[in-house]
Amino acid sequence: MAMPKARTRKPARRPSPPAPGPGLKILFVASECAPYAKAGGLADVVAALPKTLRQMGHDARIVMPLYAAIDRARYGIGFLQPVCVHMGNGEEQWIGLHGGRLDGEVPVWFVDCDRYFGRPGLYDEAGGEYGDNAFRFALLSKAATQICKDTGFIPDVMHAHDWPAALAPVFLKTWDRILSPLSATASVLTIHNIGYQGVYHASVFPYIGVGWEHFVPERFEDHGNVNLLKAGVAFADALTTVSPAHAREILEPIGGMGLAPHLDARRADLTGILNGTDYDHWNPETDPFIPAHYSLKDLSGKAACKADLQKRMGLAERPDWPLFGIVSRFAPQKGFGLLAECLPDALRQMLFQVVVLGTGDPWMENVFRGLAAAWPGRVACHIGFSNELSHWIEAGSDFFLMPSLYEPCGLNQMYSMKYGTLPVVRATGGLDDTVENYNEKTGLGTGFKFWEPAAAAVCDTVGWAVSTWFDRPHHIAKLRRNAMQQNFSWETSAAEYVRVYEHAVAARRRG
Ligand code: ADP
Ligand code: GLC
Repeated sequence: MAMPKARTRKPARRPSPPAPGPGLKILFVASECAPYAKAGGLADVVAALPKTLRQMGHDARIVMPLYAAIDRARYGIGFLQPVCVHMGNGEEQWIGLHGGRLDGEVPVWFVDCDRYFGRPGLYDEAGGEYGDNAFRFALLSKAATQICKDTGFIPDVMHAHDWPAALAPVFLKTWDRILSPLSATASVLTIHNIGYQGVYHASVFPYIGVGWEHFVPERFEDHGNVNLLKAGVAFADALTTVSPAHAREILEPIGGMGLAPHLDARRADLTGILNGTDYDHWNPETDPFIPAHYSLKDLSGKAACKADLQKRMGLAERPDWPLFGIVSRFAPQKGFGLLAECLPDALRQMLFQVVVLGTGDPWMENVFRGLAAAWPGRVACHIGFSNELSHWIEAGSDFFLMPSLYEPCGLNQMYSMKYGTLPVVRATGGLDDTVENYNEKTGLGTGFKFWEPAAAAVCDTVGWAVSTWFDRPHHIAKLRRNAMQQNFSWETSAAEYVRVYEHAVAARRRG
């Protein structure tokens, strides 16, 4: 691969001071929210954005499932009232409405329904995806509308996230179209990951309870199946995805994964808004999970974090070797197949260490287990989910590897920068928008980028980072400073969401 080209430096994002909010009422409908239930970045976004909106003067709240794994006592979650949710075919599902407060600030409603959420996983278990996910999440979206009616919280905007909540916009325009307290409520659908669309057998359609006239290719129907995300795209008043680059990508045939024509039909209502970073939780100066604190002014704590991480993970305790961190779901999207192809050779040819935290695809889990066994002291892995270790890896690593095939936004590269850990990324979606490529002449940039989705490109770029580490340590120090100075706080993005909410409200008024 040719050496990646240096790119023009984009201006660092500066948070504009929040405008005095017009006081919108916004209900987030989502299947994840940190710290209650998290499988990936969706949970971080659903936790952070409402908090920022509230600080701007809006009344943002959240509704999500009360999964069995959520620790009610720990989070002060208590029963409020029973709610009867009406599904299709006249089916009534009683749920228990529970309430809590996220970070003591954001009201969260939890949908307790043992039949659907009283199990260990969010979407799946070791045996695979739950067979009734269409029913489980149709209930969540319908419950969101019923909770509004029963509690009297009538939102200006219902903000649905990904396929599990994509029916909320549908219900607002079908069940709640006229003579409903929600008939003026607008909807926004955010696509965090178009690779998951919620496609199910057509037999689930009657449970959703909208007329068969909607089972057409422009709305629900997808090769004879029901596609929940597609329906959300058709019905929502406004659409967003989580970076400007990804908003362009999903309008293309490959990036749109079957939905490109449908998104193109709505392109005037589609906005790409970069995710932010919640620096209350991801900050090396205050992080409760890391062994030593540090800042731009004094990086000595970072060296201590690296030494402790090497020790904890059984790696050789070498401050002079570059350490690459990985924290990820193991899904095809993340590009670890490319890494599996090139890591054995790269480890033979270059001196570096790798620490991996992740879970998902069993094949990928075994690849990393095998590499750790073959390269003791150089490769270590923890297969599983650990919030604590994820923070530690951000702090203790020198580089952070994200060779994603596609990445709508990606949060870890932004966390990494704050921790002075340089991202090594494929230039796709939000990774391209947030990482500035290293310029060897000037030492400017915030990380290392490559473009081709190929094992050789990953290997070359890892090599580029390793050679910079050994040959130009002054540039590593400069890149680290640049990275730590980036500001990806939520205020800027939240202000953009408010503009989208206003657009959606105006669209809803026009009918
Ligand atoms: P995605 O949402 O596609 O998984 P993101 O980069 O947006 O990717 O967000 C991933 C989030 O999930 C980050 O907060 C990351 O730290 C966390 N995460 C992923 N895998 C694990 C894991 N095995 N243990 C702990 N946290 C994880
Ligand atoms: C998704 C995407 C990731 C994004 C996250 C939060 O799961 O894969 O890129 O950062 O959602 O928006």
